[in-house]
Amino acid sequence: MGSDEDRLRKPNNQRTTMRAKLQILLLVVSTNLISIYLFSGAVLNINWPENAPRIHLWDSERLLRELNVTRFKLSDAQSSLSNLETKCSTSSALLEALLTELGRVHGDKPMYDDINGWPDELFGELKLAAGPYKLPLGFTSNIGSDELYPTMGFACRNFQPEVIQYMTYEPGNECPSDDLFAQRLMLKGCEPLPRRRCKPKSPTNYSEPDPFPSSLWKIPPDSSIIWDPYTCKNYTCLVNRGKTKGSYDCKDCFDLRGREKVRWMIDNGNLDYSIDNVLRLKPPGTIRIGLDIGGGTGSFAARMRERNITIVTSSMNFDGPFNNFIASRGLVPLHISIAHRLPFGDGVLDIVHSMHVLSNWIPDTMLEFALYDIYRVLRPGGVFWLDHFFCLGGQLNGTYVPMFDKIGFKKLKWNAGRKLDRGLEKNEWYISALLEKPMN
Ligand SMILES: *[C@@H]1O[C@H](CO)[C@@H](O)[C@H](O)[C@H]1NC(C)=O
Ligand SMILES: *[C@@H]1O[C@H](CO)[C@@H](O)[C@H](O)[C@H]1NC(C)=O
Ligand SMILES: *[C@@H]1O[C@H](CO)[C@@H](O)[C@H](O)[C@H]1NC(C)=O
Ligand SMILES: *[C@@H]1O[C@H](CO)[C@@H](O)[C@H](O)[C@H]1NC(C)=O
Ligand SMILES: *[C@@H]1O[C@H](CO)[C@@H](O)[C@H](O)[C@H]1NC(C)=O
Repeated sequence: MGSDEDRLRKPNNQRTTMRAKLQILLLVVSTNLISIYLFSGAVLNINWPENAPRIHLWDSERLLRELNVTRFKLSDAQSSLSNLETKCSTSSALLEALLTELGRVHGDKPMYDDINGWPDELFGELKLAAGPYKLPLGFTSNIGSDELYPTMGFACRNFQPEVIQYMTYEPGNECPSDDLFAQRLMLKGCEPLPRRRCKPKSPTNYSEPDPFPSSLWKIPPDSSIIWDPYTCKNYTCLVNRGKTKGSYDCKDCFDLRGREKVRWMIDNGNLDYSIDNVLRLKPPGTIRIGLDIGGGTGSFAARMRERNITIVTSSMNFDGPFNNFIASRGLVPLHISIAHRLPFGDGVLDIVHSMHVLSNWIPDTMLEFALYDIYRVLRPGGVFWLDHFFCLGGQLNGTYVPMFDKIGFKKLKWNAGRKLDRGLEKNEWYISALLEKPMN
């Protein structure tokens, strides 16, 4: 792609700089060595005996004696030398550190800056996808620069071999069938993934989706997606998964006639709130748009849609085509993990809902950032419906209540209740809450 020249030139440049640096280092270390040698007379002081080896061929006994003495002196000298060596290596390590520091002060960039923080030189599609690119029309004030970096998760740099694998394909042709691999990379923090110039495999015998609104509660045809990444190979399997053994995320979510059908329809006065009761807390019609974080197959958005409320559902494809399924219902899926900054401006959403996904598996600091992000995207008076937040008894008052209090939501509703299915002694808890972003 015309970048071969670049590719060849850059490593050479680097090798030259590297060699120059090594030479300087060697020079300094050897100078240092000599000076230590000169100034350490006390250490390397072999006091040859006054009468040292004078060879008298006729006096073999004396010769032996002298040899013995010399050998002892030699071993003495040897240990002095090894002492010296230790001192030298310490001092050269110090020197190296000093040199680096000097280089830094001098504005001498460390090596990795040459490749934008990647461990190794970029090449091929990854190099093209990573940029940066000079803007053809030059500096623009919107960007504040004359060059542009395509966005890519910073942590991608930590997984370069995997990112290279991800970026290995024939441009213009079909993409590798690597959804699972790609999603893992995302979930590790390489999010967003770099863009690719290939086309995902397309299902054969695709038919137009069911028309809205009947699409909301319909299982799409098996021919609508590619099944490669999933254990199940058809929707019958996914719908029945709730009744089988094994642990899956959102195990019974594809069964739209099961539990999914009644979720958020009944208020049990405790942890289960109903959508209608929640909406009643705000003036009619003022909850219009929102986000469901980790919304499984999108039933929350479907129920809201039935009330003329538009909800975007974020979901990961955990061993199931969650995103395709949400889309087939006529709802908007968003393929982002909970680690991702929410792709909304400040103060725009009327409601954010999240069930089961936010819980104590998330590192505290990351959770706090996520909660502040939710606060950020809500408009004043917008509500955060925290639905079945899971934690242990000690964490409830120890960690999470203080965390929610600190962020500054107003508690419209708050319920903490025990999760009993694994036994009382586990001391497992759920929190459900309606938290309002203050009006001012
Ligand atoms: C060499 O000298 C050491 C002490 O200086 C003595 O113990 C040893 O017996 C000597 N060896 C011979 C072979 O003379
Ligand atoms: C194509 O899909 C439709 C349903 O969408 C199905 O009725 C038909 O049998 C499928 N044809 C083939 C060849 O798989
Ligand atoms: C669905 O897939 C399962 C295996 O995942 C298979 O046993 C079953 O026969 C399939 N059913 C249909 C209707 O294709
Ligand atoms: C949703 O909007 C449609 C069209 O404006 C209207 O006919 C319908 O009554 C609304 N439904 C609800 C539950 O408000
Ligand atoms: C948390 O604190 C509240 C109020 O201080 C108390 O009523 C509740 O029992 C505590 N919960 C747990 C699980 O410790």
